Amino acid sequence: MLLDLIKERKSVREYQDKKIPNEDLKKILQAGYLAPSWMNSQPWKFILVENQETKDLLCELSSNQPHVKNASALIVCIADKNGWSKEEFGEVLKKRGMNEAGIEKIFSIPMFYPVLLGDNTVLMRSVEQVTYAISYMMLEAKELKVDSCIIGALQNEATVIKNEELVKKVNERLNLSKDDVIITIITLGYAKEETKTEKQRKDYNKVVYYEKVGQNISF
Ligand SMILES: Cc1cc2nc3c(=O)[nH]c(=O)nc-3n(C[C@H](O)[C@H](O)[C@H](O)COP(=O)(O)O)c2cc1C
Repeated sequence: MLLDLIKERKSVREYQDKKIPNEDLKKILQAGYLAPSWMNSQPWKFILVENQETKDLLCELSSNQPHVKNASALIVCIADKNGWSKEEFGEVLKKRGMNEAGIEKIFSIPMFYPVLLGDNTVLMRSVEQVTYAISYMMLEAKELKVDSCIIGALQNEATVIKNEELVKKVNERLNLSKDDVIITIITLGYAKEETKTEKQRKDYNKVVYYEKVGQNISF
């Protein structure tokens, strides 16, 4: 059951030195590729990284968190702001069967077209989309007995850029465009040892309600 998988998944930060089979990597990437997004906008890119030098560089970008360089593979998850350009987004809308007039209408409504609300909104909306794909990939990984951890503490446009040189080096190595923002790195690998840890979460009744905040669910 999917809920069992969700309960079992936990962030794993120590990995065995063992390659993940390509067919499993492919399945994990497909899970992200097939994730839902706002009007199917798909403002994202996913880069599979296995090269050690690239992993080392990405480790540096991520406050030197050791699991980034020790993971068997990484998936660099990118918010592609160009995904909202009239060309790219327009292409997607055309594929949905929309005519020119309908597409122009979408481009004139701020709620549907974040570009009208400025760069921050474009970034925020892009991050929103990428997040779904990340969850899908982590769960597919777990299904395949591949452990993972999300790395969000990294230098980027949405957090902080402390080392311009390093960011430039990473962008060059990954062949990123000016519209590509690394949002998350997913570390992947097989846990060094099986650890049983209880999931620590806020009280269920403090975050889940029935009909309105303050009213808990009785079933
Ligand atoms: C957006 C986001 C960013 C995160 N960034 C990091 C990170 O930089 N390094 C890390 O080791 N874990 C990171 N995590 C993992 C969380 O610490 C972890 O999911 C949380 O403590 C809950 O534990 P669990 O995943 O084992 O259920 C991040 C998780 C999310 C959702």
